[in-house]
Amino acid sequence: MTSETLAVSRTAALARLKSHHDKHKWSLRELFAGDPQRFERFSAEAAGLFLDYSKNHLRDDTLRLLLDYTDQIDLSAQIAGLLSGAAVNNTEHRPALHTALRFQGEPRTEHEQAVADCRNQMRQFAEKIHSGGWRSFSGEPIRHIVNIGIGGSDLGPRMVVEALRPWQRPDISVHFVANIDGADLTDTLAGLRAEDTLFIVASKSFSTLETLQNALSARQWVLDAGCREDQLARHFVAVSSNIVAAQDFGIAAENIFPMWNWVGGRYSLWSAIGLPIVLACGFETYEQLLAGAHAMDEHFATADFADNLPVLLALIHFWYRQCWNASSQAVLPYAQRLAKFPAWLQQLDMESLGKGVDRDGHHLQYPSGSVIWGTEGSNGQHSFHQLLHQGTDLIPADFIAVREPTSALKEQHQWLLACCISQSQALLRGKSLQEARQELEQQGYTHREAHALAPHKVVPGNRPSNTLIMERLDPFNLGALLALYEHKVFVGGCLLGINPFDQWGVELGKLLGAQIHAAIGGEAPQDWDGSTRNLLERLL
Ligand code: F6P
Repeated sequence: MTSETLAVSRTAALARLKSHHDKHKWSLRELFAGDPQRFERFSAEAAGLFLDYSKNHLRDDTLRLLLDYTDQIDLSAQIAGLLSGAAVNNTEHRPALHTALRFQGEPRTEHEQAVADCRNQMRQFAEKIHSGGWRSFSGEPIRHIVNIGIGGSDLGPRMVVEALRPWQRPDISVHFVANIDGADLTDTLAGLRAEDTLFIVASKSFSTLETLQNALSARQWVLDAGCREDQLARHFVAVSSNIVAAQDFGIAAENIFPMWNWVGGRYSLWSAIGLPIVLACGFETYEQLLAGAHAMDEHFATADFADNLPVLLALIHFWYRQCWNASSQAVLPYAQRLAKFPAWLQQLDMESLGKGVDRDGHHLQYPSGSVIWGTEGSNGQHSFHQLLHQGTDLIPADFIAVREPTSALKEQHQWLLACCISQSQALLRGKSLQEARQELEQQGYTHREAHALAPHKVVPGNRPSNTLIMERLDPFNLGALLALYEHKVFVGGCLLGINPFDQWGVELGKLLGAQIHAAIGGEAPQDWDGSTRNLLERLL
């Protein structure tokens, strides 16, 4: 299909969806009242995850139209292209083969062979650290690992290590430093000793400002503790595709773990960027994480779109984004250990889908990516849920619940799940004016008072959500969850007709940051705007 034909059928399919939206007004309460089997019909399950998507403004005909849209854009071919290593990242002429990072069994391709070799390198390195065979400059075994990286070289491993706390080894602590703000590094190092600390410099490009600055400061910290230059290799390893730059920094060639240009930063936790996971939780745990992601890959590759979890999630959000004017989406994991999940998803989704032109460089005539935000439940209930319930915007929410308790406090777990279910129920049901008045009168308010107060208590309801259930928060299920969202984002990119694998938008800020840094202490160029020049003078 040529890009012109694709654009024409996309426009026509979008118009059909919009007209469906304009013609049909229904309430979620009505949809449930009219269909006792709605929950069964609008739910799906795969790779240890159960998705209830019944609390959405979807009917069979809506779903049909959305699925028709996938035919119009030949989604099957696009998925096949991704999985087979086609250059889906068309602006950088690269494939996006993060699925090859979690292959199972014997390697079958060149990419898988490279991954297998890298896994071996990671396993052997972890064995050396865990056995105490790796010694610091002072001859001590390593007890602390500090991962220095940012964006995709930080968020994934940071989130997974925290999520898998019960799998963490007691003899190693893993820390993460990302921010250029020196407080991040100094606060992290405050309780540590260089004598038993090893740094991973994680940077695909090995040119990222924040990571290089933090790595240089860490290097000095180790030298200040008495390490000689020629012993630094015992304290620094790197994960990078830029071997030369890593070696120039002083990292020994054998301590550089490879990255490849066919793996995007935000899809890289499955590569050696996941080294902190291996060191914190052991290689077997990391393998289970990969296995869970692989199970989701298999599901994504083979399931009918009507039962395909990533496709369904992407279609549902596309529906709200294009036809319901939903410009943001909340992600609400009801699990303390998934607290960093929203931050990880933010980079994945917003860096991928925050684009203004299609794959051919034409301006989009429809909205692209939306704002992803959220926090761990139930904390959010006492901050921003008010806006979800009574604010004027429609904000679809993804709830994530874990069935098995994640602590010994079983009663609290029951409360946690009750909170989670009650939130999606409240979003759906709401409270009408009449219900609010009645409630107030029953509470003893006069008729007049009840009438005055009731509008403030109205909750519009009819607000959509998905609920994902994970049987247990374990490495396999976590792997499946993360792969689910990776594929959802890819499908989102296909639906929008954009390239979800580049991120040119972040480059301008980097360039200007360097120019502003260079202007410190001197005269700011006259052609800079007045605000920038004055801020420079005031701050620097
Ligand atoms: O600036 C954005 C970005 O390129 C992300 O895509 C990436 O995950 C992050 O910076 C870190 O990049 P690197 O791993 O090359 O240091």
